[in-house]
Amino acid sequence: MIRLQNVSKTFARGSVEALRDVSLTVAPGEFVAIVGASGCGKSTLLRLVAGLVPVSTGQVSLGGTLVSAPRADTAMVFQAPTLLPWADVLRNVTFPLRLMGQANAETDARARALLETAGLKGFEHRLPKELSGGMQQRVAICRALLQQPRVLLMDEPFGALDALTREEMSLELLRIWAGRNMAVLFVTHSISEAVLLADRVVVMSPRPGRIAEIITPNLPRPRSFEQEGSAEFHSAAQRIRALIYGERLPRAA
Ligand SMILES: Nc1ncnc2c1ncn2[C@@H]1O[C@H](COP(=O)(O)OP(=O)(O)O)[C@@H](O)[C@H]1O
Ligand SMILES: [Mg+2]
Repeated sequence: MIRLQNVSKTFARGSVEALRDVSLTVAPGEFVAIVGASGCGKSTLLRLVAGLVPVSTGQVSLGGTLVSAPRADTAMVFQAPTLLPWADVLRNVTFPLRLMGQANAETDARARALLETAGLKGFEHRLPKELSGGMQQRVAICRALLQQPRVLLMDEPFGALDALTREEMSLELLRIWAGRNMAVLFVTHSISEAVLLADRVVVMSPRPGRIAEIITPNLPRPRSFEQEGSAEFHSAAQRIRALIYGERLPRAA
């Protein structure tokens, strides 16, 4: 599905080597989290897959086709909700499809159904400024999902939310993801969020940005926060922490 082959990215301005020799394959329907210190190239990696910036060397392909520009089958959610301030919730959610000329008679009904799933029934005709930050981010997620993307790219999507909303939203995202054949690349600062959500966790290291290791948390689905108490959860989180912060691993008992 998503394939990065020996991808490097150097930004001309300041000649920053944001990524060096990154190779990664993501299967259709797979949920992959990306963690690592700030500046290690996580956002750059997503932007390359989104077709928003070109690679310096190497290749990014989706379903066997080289990515050279944004695509209709790829949707992105950023940390800040980025809604149109003058359009109501329903118009915001349907905006990309209308822009791409892909809206049809069912578009509004599908948008309303998604908004209901996201707990936003009754808010269809509110403006973004009338909603809390968490609600605005749900609108942005509904907007991405309405495109029925094969690839959903999320860059710290819950970063601006309070802890409770964040937990609620992450489980909601898992429920929605489970019913679709959608690959997710999910950047987060939170090691526990990465372990709880993902099939695999890509741990990156900085200067230059590289993949340090890929961890596969072996937790059954459906996931729940109770799994945070399990030995498997702790060992995966501990390994990731060690990779990022260089902590010593405790000796095996
Ligand atoms: N448009 C840009 N121009 C110049 N340097 C950039 C640009 N975008 C990112 N960088 C640099 O590339 C590196 C990786 O950035 P980024 O991908 O945003 O990291 P992360 O998301 O992991 O914090 C950083 O050193 C950053 O300053
Ligand atoms: Mg970033």
